[in-house]
Amino acid sequence: MKHPLPYLAPLASDNRRRFLQRIGITAAFFTVPGAFAEALIATPAQTEGPFYPDHLPLDTDNDLLVINNGITPAVGEVSYVSGRILDAHGDPVRNATVEIWQCDAHGAYLHTKTGNADKRDTHFQGFGRFVTGSTGEYLLRTIKPVAYPGRSPHIHYKVRRGAKELLTTQCYIKGHPGNEKDGVWKGIKGEKERASVTVDFSPLRGGKAGELAAQFDIVLGFTPEA
Ligand SMILES: [Fe+2]
Repeated sequence: MKHPLPYLAPLASDNRRRFLQRIGITAAFFTVPGAFAEALIATPAQTEGPFYPDHLPLDTDNDLLVINNGITPAVGEVSYVSGRILDAHGDPVRNATVEIWQCDAHGAYLHTKTGNADKRDTHFQGFGRFVTGSTGEYLLRTIKPVAYPGRSPHIHYKVRRGAKELLTTQCYIKGHPGNEKDGVWKGIKGEKERASVTVDFSPLRGGKAGELAAQFDIVLGFTPEA
């Protein structure tokens, strides 16, 4: 079931653009090749890991909390995860398919070789996707990721355009003590690069049931062909 877009705080990159427009330097700024690109940190690629679903759920929409028209939602802290897919120049990438997958609240993936298979939350979709429009924005409703043995909480991402894979990465919870001990997180070269995949999960503005919101913008290190 497609989840309606809730109110979300304006995206930081929009603020930046608006600010630039207000001070009248947008045109100059964007006509200098690479000027904006230098300010952007390309989202580092990270391992796909062993648990990309080996069978897709019956429902692959952007709401991982509810499978089709099920009435029992998944267990976990409800989180709206959104952001923009940007190319190397900071321009939005449209028609990008953003896929996420993560383990459920009990540490089980939608994979036949997952750990904790006996505890799997059958109401959690485990995988979802969203196709971007002209603004490059995506939105998924899921649970706040949890730790499982050997890993700090994370959400796996894969960005495609048509059949082509553009980027595989993961995002983490800012301030989570497990990050510093996580081999994949530590393996990302550069403090800024690690920061670029480590995002706040903060209360959703206007949320009535303790929902969280996280914003994860993905900057491709290149500009995909139209
Ligand atoms: Fe994982």
